Amino acid sequence: MSSRTATPAKRIAELRKLVEHHNYRYHVLDDPELSDAAYDALYDELKALEEAHPELVTPDSPTQRVGAPPAAGFTKVEHLSPMGSLEKVTTAEQLEKWAEDVRKRLGTDEPVAYVLEPKVDGSAVSLVYESGVLTRGATRGDGLRGEDVTANLRTLEPVPLRMLTPDGERPPATLEVRGEVFFPLSGFERFNEAQIAAGKKPAPNPRNAAAGSLRQLNPAITAERPLSIYVYGVGVRDATVPGTQWETLAWLRERGFRTNPLAERLETIQEVAEACAAWEARRGELDYEIDGVVIKVDSFAQQEALGSLHNRPRFARAYKWAPTAATTRLLKIHVRVGRTGVLNPLAELEPVQVGGVTVTSATLHNEDDIRRKDIREGDLVIVQRAGDVIPQVVGPAGEHEPGARPWRMPKRCPLCKTEIVRPEGEVMHRCPNRACPSRGLETLYHWVGPALDIEGVGAETVKKLWDEGLVRSLPDLYRLTKEQLLELDGFAEISATRALESIERSKEQPFSRVLFGLNIPKVGWVLARNLAQHFGTVDALAAAGLEELQEVEGFGPDRADLVAEWFADEENRALVEELRALGIQMASAEWERRPADGALGGQQYVLTGTLEGFTREEAKAALEALGAKVTGSVSKRTTGVVVGESPGSKAQKAAELGVPVLTEDDLRKLLAS
Ligand code: IVH
Repeated sequence: MSSRTATPAKRIAELRKLVEHHNYRYHVLDDPELSDAAYDALYDELKALEEAHPELVTPDSPTQRVGAPPAAGFTKVEHLSPMGSLEKVTTAEQLEKWAEDVRKRLGTDEPVAYVLEPKVDGSAVSLVYESGVLTRGATRGDGLRGEDVTANLRTLEPVPLRMLTPDGERPPATLEVRGEVFFPLSGFERFNEAQIAAGKKPAPNPRNAAAGSLRQLNPAITAERPLSIYVYGVGVRDATVPGTQWETLAWLRERGFRTNPLAERLETIQEVAEACAAWEARRGELDYEIDGVVIKVDSFAQQEALGSLHNRPRFARAYKWAPTAATTRLLKIHVRVGRTGVLNPLAELEPVQVGGVTVTSATLHNEDDIRRKDIREGDLVIVQRAGDVIPQVVGPAGEHEPGARPWRMPKRCPLCKTEIVRPEGEVMHRCPNRACPSRGLETLYHWVGPALDIEGVGAETVKKLWDEGLVRSLPDLYRLTKEQLLELDGFAEISATRALESIERSKEQPFSRVLFGLNIPKVGWVLARNLAQHFGTVDALAAAGLEELQEVEGFGPDRADLVAEWFADEENRALVEELRALGIQMASAEWERRPADGALGGQQYVLTGTLEGFTREEAKAALEALGAKVTGSVSKRTTGVVVGESPGSKAQKAAELGVPVLTEDDLRKLLAS
């Protein structure tokens, strides 16, 4: 294996094989064996040897990806067989109707299996390999003829210049591979920033960016773009290709092509319908945009029996979701007062269907944002839902209504009429009145929910207790009697007893959660835990000066100030005393005092789905504070996957790899261990 003993030709051949192999591990299997530096060393050695021996350079060498000079234009080329398009369905009923039609047409009792593939929203391409070497790459064009963009496609590292030949097999004389070139989301934002910085127009979406990148006349420019590809099939098939779509995907992968690892094979149309619904929730987690799912009959024999209609195969359908943006009227902008007094503008909308759900309200962030977008009451606006997040108002859908005025934050709190303040340097307005009713209610919601997690006493109960005037503060909760609860709608002997029991049990919740529940501005769960760990008791914390507060991880001068201010306030001190007298924890348990670092050293976690009591950042910071690493993708090295609401493919991947799955509760225990 040494370059000193081998002839240049031999070493070049050897290096090409190595570079191709590691390229494949990296781009196709997503499982590199070498560090970047070690890979670069091989590549550089190959490049140097080829420069010393130009006669040994061949076009399929991995060093020859960017070689062609800029072109004057693209030539049109005919596809070896037409690149069709897909009929779409949008509901489970339509999907079942299609399956019924497939059954009838096949006219047999043989089972029909399906393959589901994410419908990546990029640019369709055809790659022709002759005797295993990439000789032509083209865009889809009108389906019959596309543009020859070979020089550009060669610059994509996940596109093999030469097919791999497992067990030394002889590659097919001609093979046309089809796939979708796409612009990963992680690179898209950066790309647009660079475009703007260079005074060029940003791309409206990743699909345009992919198509535009493929049609660059200078391949060196395409090479700079982080384009990727998933291949999903072959054009004309011959005997070397297996007999099903599922096996073909594996076959392509073994020969060096990047196929989507999230493809699945399902045996019934009901399972397909369920998977399609699950995919919608999952789409927000991917690093590329998808505009649906493609469903294909797995068996090629069945595919051929079904045939096509107007170049649309009867054996496949695109399942597309309802659009995630819609236009509707913004009826009114309301202001909600949150638990720390922050004022959140909220849009009341004329009900509209967005992405399959009826939307009646949406967040508007803050006054600056509303003014920047120039959204006014009465306007027609564009509303957007991305994945499972709260709907947002993107902007006006056209001209303002005559007489519509720019929106202003009210001068006084809508509930308690106290004058609103906007602290310097902050974008959010606040109601400074601690006794503001809305703020009190939000504080209670936060206490029974994410902070103290009081089972059986949810937001609805708290609202009823508030309306009846039974609970107006945190201590009130602990003074509730069974008789009072029984008077409320929806409470009976057993549920009232249970609710009181869980309120009682909440007194055993650790000090860090109590601190989290106290609503100290900007102190989320992680910072509450850091405070509890550092100070140990509420008295030590209350007595701490600014300097000492800044010794706590996560506290700069601003946050330290806010904490000191909170404890300097007499009403807050009285609240703490009252809660202490009622039996709430005001000191850290032994485990809360232990230094956090290192307890989870060497462990790796992945977070997926929405957590209730933490934001992603908080959960990540908490794990990292204990020495764990938090990564974005599940592998065999992952210690555990923390799964929240609407988890995506990562939960499934964990199950496949046998990686433990943790609930939010498990996470809390882990962090407390
Ligand atoms: S199969 C007869 N599979 O969707 C057409 N298409 O309307 C067979 N696409 O132009 C296409 N991912 O750009 C197929 N896994 C996938 C796909 C996929 C994306 C695109 C492709 C095509 C369009 C079909």
